[in-house]
Amino acid sequence: MAENATSLLFPGNQTNVGFENEAACDEAHEKLICQECKEFLLSLPREKGWFKPYIYLYQHIWYAPAQLQALISFQKHFQAKDSDIIIASLPKSGTTWLKALTFAIVNRNRFSPSKHNHPLLISNAHELVPFFEFHDCKTNQIPDFSNLSDPRLFGTHVPCHSLPDSITMSRCRIIYICRNPLDNFVSFWFFYNKIVPPLSPKLSLEEAFERYSEGNSVLGPFWTNILGYWRQGKETPNKVLFLKYEDLKGDTKFYLKRVAEFLDCPFNLAEEGNGVIEKMIELCSFRKMKESAELNKKVKVMQKYENKDFFRKGEVGDWVNHFSPWMKEKLSKVIEEKLGGSGLSF
Ligand code: A3P
Repeated sequence: MAENATSLLFPGNQTNVGFENEAACDEAHEKLICQECKEFLLSLPREKGWFKPYIYLYQHIWYAPAQLQALISFQKHFQAKDSDIIIASLPKSGTTWLKALTFAIVNRNRFSPSKHNHPLLISNAHELVPFFEFHDCKTNQIPDFSNLSDPRLFGTHVPCHSLPDSITMSRCRIIYICRNPLDNFVSFWFFYNKIVPPLSPKLSLEEAFERYSEGNSVLGPFWTNILGYWRQGKETPNKVLFLKYEDLKGDTKFYLKRVAEFLDCPFNLAEEGNGVIEKMIELCSFRKMKESAELNKKVKVMQKYENKDFFRKGEVGDWVNHFSPWMKEKLSKVIEEKLGGSGLSF
């Protein structure tokens, strides 16, 4: 963790956030940003933001103010257990899906995947597998996770190099899901325009694309976020399992088994024979999850998103329906420049 981050956190020192153009911000967690954090933000490079007026560069990644404050609390206070499981990703890479699959795998003895009231049918995966950096805690606090049963499951979009030492040093495991940046961008653009507050301007595909390609994206640049986990997965394969959305779509059964083995809870022959894996795949299928989200409209995800916002098309290669040739060429060039030589390709 960065030295300056430690000194930034002082309990009981919150004031209402007062960023330019942000006076109308009605989100409770924004109001919890402390004076020290605001001062710290002033010391960081900033760029035009997506959901907020600005995003700030901290440890090589762009954050909105509330996420940065939450991250710093989490870096300082989170105590990992060896049994913890972290689902990491860039936003819009299939996080919700992987959270659901992992929840179904590790809890299969408590909740049979064919159970009509399986938690995944009545809650959103983000409620069952909470994010570290999206919470409304006061500064210098992290949420009370004592109600989570072991193994605890968490989600994060934070890059590998910014995870707290307790995660790095413990034996807890990380599963990272990445997605072809072309589809990742399209998914993000749709999501952004869907959930952007009614009075805020929508972003054109071209404008959003320019920013994404230049690295100005939420929790990006995408290449920094992806490459950190990719390299870590190569160096410590027992610690980090690196998955691609496209592979998971292509052969869900194979990767479900891979995840279960990685987590030391492989499917036994009886389970395989009873079709447990197939039932899990069905439980977490795009169709089923979208249907459940429609049925559970009232469930708010992270207190502001609608459950159904997390399900759009769930396909590989949708970028062809939105990219013009120059966009394809430009982003492919960026991918080659940034990921070339790493061994990772799409
Ligand atoms: P699209 O916008 O391309 O449809 P995240 O969960 O990281 O926010 O990613 C969202 C993307 O994953 C969206 O992609 C969403 O539709 C897709 N998705 C959500 N649930 C899925 C599932 N069960 N199977 C496949 N894709 C899923």
